[in-house]
Amino acid sequence: MTKYVIHGGKPLSGEIEISGAKNAAVAIIPAALLVDGVCRIENIPQISDVTLLLRILEQHGAEINTINRHTMDINCTDISKRGTAFELMRQIRASYYLVGAMLGRFGRAEVSMPGGCDLGVRPIDQHIKGFTAMGAEVEIRNGIIYANVPGGRLRGADIYLDVVSVGATINIMLAAVLAEGQTIIENVAREPHIVDVANFLNSMGADVRGAGTNVIKIRGVDKMSGGFYSIIPDQIEAGTYLAAVAAVGGEVLIKNVIPKHLDCITAKLIEMGVTIEAREDAIFVKRTGSLCRTNVKTLPYPGFPTDMHPQVAVGLCLAEGISVVTEGVWDNRYRYVDELRRMGAKIQVDGKIAVIEGVPALTGAPVKACDLRAGAAMVIAGLCAIGTTEVEDVYHIERGYENLVEKFKSAGADIECVSVLEKGSSPGIAI
Ligand code: EPU
Repeated sequence: MTKYVIHGGKPLSGEIEISGAKNAAVAIIPAALLVDGVCRIENIPQISDVTLLLRILEQHGAEINTINRHTMDINCTDISKRGTAFELMRQIRASYYLVGAMLGRFGRAEVSMPGGCDLGVRPIDQHIKGFTAMGAEVEIRNGIIYANVPGGRLRGADIYLDVVSVGATINIMLAAVLAEGQTIIENVAREPHIVDVANFLNSMGADVRGAGTNVIKIRGVDKMSGGFYSIIPDQIEAGTYLAAVAAVGGEVLIKNVIPKHLDCITAKLIEMGVTIEAREDAIFVKRTGSLCRTNVKTLPYPGFPTDMHPQVAVGLCLAEGISVVTEGVWDNRYRYVDELRRMGAKIQVDGKIAVIEGVPALTGAPVKACDLRAGAAMVIAGLCAIGTTEVEDVYHIERGYENLVEKFKSAGADIECVSVLEKGSSPGIAI
């Protein structure tokens, strides 16, 4: 068990390199199950959600060879049709992509109901609606999703999503690439990682068009036989460091990003008085003056991302005046608020709306990472605060951020990962 100990109040400076996108990687790795051959995948982030998914694939019989820190060969030529890794699947949200991938490849899937951050109700009815339209019979029993196609192969179908869902868009796309005939999915999500998954599938031999628009068309192919792919940089990781510089102050070059993907985040930061300069594959961010208040509403892409909500809220806690944040995607994204209040933040929450009254400073306190993005927000708050902040339950953060402590240290932050005292042992720096 570890925690982060942060001595706040130092402006950030230097350079931070962004890793591969978590929410693309956690879909692309299960997508490798569709491929009858070797997928060489580059720019895989080293995060615990990825480690878990790779273990699940190995338990299914996949052969995984590590080429270097961020590159792997995944070979799913000889894999088992039966689900086995239920305990591992339960720990991660993205395990639901195994349903689409296994259904597409074998016409059957057994996957435990997914875990992941507690952000309120997280239904998967739109995923099931898509699979059913394509001829699958889906049943949930004892926490396991059993899906089966009586004829053995899914049939293409026209599917209209009732809600714009990242997970349902990707899952139906995975199911459709090896289906018989054409699938058209309407009202789909348009996040950069949706386009990345479609590009991965196409580079392995699929025929997916329209990703990044409202309608995706997939012509089923008989086989996908492998290839090479490099995952895009993580939009939300980059946004988190941008939000950190905005809140803490200083100037940092955020490297290995696609600036276009960050427009929805940088537009808000500019309103808050932050200087942003987009370069070819980097963004320079600087904040020296005071922060201005603004309102934020989270929406599906290209709206402001819900996964950036808690991190930007920290800056708003220090902005002059009153800001309003409206959560437009999840029912329960405000669990970070109680933790920020311990540090002196003034926030009132009513349903999906938070009213934030800026305060001159936050003060260090012991706090918890309630979920992945709430955890990132606590680190940012700790870096801003006067005194020492200790962030517990950092395993949430490590699910989605590669080397967060080292990256902040490289920008001059005073942050350490420390092992939590167990009875009879002494504390130490965690490795
Ligand atoms: N929804 C339904 N029915 C469904 C699916 C979704 O009603 O079948 C609703 C949800 O309840 C929610 C909305 O649709 O209100 C959007 O949910 P979506 O399916 O887009 O979310 P997700 O696929 O479960 C992914 C990311 C989340 C991110 C959301 C929104 C992964 C593994 N997770 O979740 O990422 O918040 O999209 O962008 O890709 C994170 O990285 O911290 C994280 C939580």
